[in-house]
Amino acid sequence: MLKTFEFSDEDNALTVKVSEKMDPSYGLYTWPSSIVLAQYLWHNRQLLNNKNILELGTGTGLPSLVAIMCGNAKSVTLSDDQRQPKYVDKHYVSWKKIFNDNCALLFFRCFQNMTDSCLFNDVQTYESEINGLFCRQNNYNGTSVTVIGITWGEVPPIFSDHTSTGVPFPDIILGSDCLFDESVFDPVLFTARHLLTRGSVQKADPSRFLCTYQVRSSKISLRYHMSQWGLVYKEIPIQTFSQDKYNIANSGMPGNHKVKMLEVTLSDNIARRSVMPA
Ligand SMILES: C[S@@+](CC[C@H](N)C(=O)[O-])C[C@H]1O[C@@H](n2cnc3c(N)ncnc32)[C@H](O)[C@@H]1O
Repeated sequence: MLKTFEFSDEDNALTVKVSEKMDPSYGLYTWPSSIVLAQYLWHNRQLLNNKNILELGTGTGLPSLVAIMCGNAKSVTLSDDQRQPKYVDKHYVSWKKIFNDNCALLFFRCFQNMTDSCLFNDVQTYESEINGLFCRQNNYNGTSVTVIGITWGEVPPIFSDHTSTGVPFPDIILGSDCLFDESVFDPVLFTARHLLTRGSVQKADPSRFLCTYQVRSSKISLRYHMSQWGLVYKEIPIQTFSQDKYNIANSGMPGNHKVKMLEVTLSDNIARRSVMPA
């Protein structure tokens, strides 16, 4: 299924299409948080200038596609879970026959769907390999695009300080509705912290993690979880980049869902945690 989103301001307009599939996986549906994050990027597209962008838990890919199609980012990497699917079906088995072990481990539905979303917008990618990991890559109007598997809680081996051997560490990490349950906070924040630390080395402008999430419980303290990983955040009020929060990008979403946006950076305090809890 194809879903279309239309972003505009006084002078410019952008139409982005994403691919959705009827499937129980969270990553094959476009969540309200991703529309809010995409709208933020559209309204603040000067932030993308010559930046390396990485999206975690990309799902159907709307924020990444806005980042690619605004045309000024240096690189955009779309990533999703690369663990083995919980259930194996006939498609998975045939994929496994076709590709090598690394590829077979990719959470193939999300990977395939991210690739389809790119294609719907004429962002053509080709099979490639980074540090032994299967991915898809190409250039789109000067922006380097990579689609790859990254599982939270792990140190992603695709990033490198040398562009010849990997993707550059991100200046901006994107994450929409990745903090959907307290059980994933530690893995998400572990990976974000690693990338923020490496991405900020020798830079006047330290890396940041822009994340949106749907408020599903008032009992959870994000500030506490972030402080454990040596991270701080400031909230970006969504009214500052969206006048009508009930209908963004002509989508009818986020509707009545309460979505918040945070800018997460490294704190000056020492992190209590530096490894994933057992
Ligand atoms: C609620 S969905 C949000 C998808 C998309 N960002 C959006 O807002 O529409 C959560 C996403 O995180 C991915 N995900 C879940 N667990 C993950 C993990 N351990 N590592 C990496 N990605 C994961 C899912 O595959 C899914 O794409």
